[in-house]
Amino acid sequence: MIQGEWIKMDQKEFREFYRTIQDVAEHPVVLRMKKYPHHGDTSCYKHCMRVAYFNYIICKKLHLDAKSAARAGMLHDLFLYDWHTHARETGERLHGFTHAEKAYKNAGKIFRLNRVERDVIRNHMWPVTLRSVPRTREGWMIVLTDKYSGLLETLDRRKKNKKNCI
Ligand SMILES: [Fe+2]
Ligand SMILES: [Fe+2]
Repeated sequence: MIQGEWIKMDQKEFREFYRTIQDVAEHPVVLRMKKYPHHGDTSCYKHCMRVAYFNYIICKKLHLDAKSAARAGMLHDLFLYDWHTHARETGERLHGFTHAEKAYKNAGKIFRLNRVERDVIRNHMWPVTLRSVPRTREGWMIVLTDKYSGLLETLDRRKKNKKNCI
């Protein structure tokens, strides 16, 4: 779990957050994301959990739809492959542009997604996917929380690599 990392988490708030996403986070297909590395040492699952939590606390503070933002955050990268080797193995080189739509399709097969959740998942890669522009405030929020989480995860790996070199 992600308690104690980067942000101070209030235990009560974390429990409230987890209850909101529990059925998503514990679904066998979603759990498969644990097998795939995402940024550095961070698995796709852990990254999604982190983004979901950031979405939840920020959207709650702003009186937005925190529940949908959290649930969609947990699903936003449900593409189910290792993107580091995917191009080599399949010849498909457009992961950055295509995975949001893949995640949306995969998520839609197992959960009934509402309008906000669909927007959050499909448009989270903006501005990489220039024409997939978020249409909800929660959709704009994940554009920020996803990139922020990715940056922290990448920096964390660099820090660990540096430590190992000393
Ligand atoms: Fe993504
Ligand atoms: Fe992501």
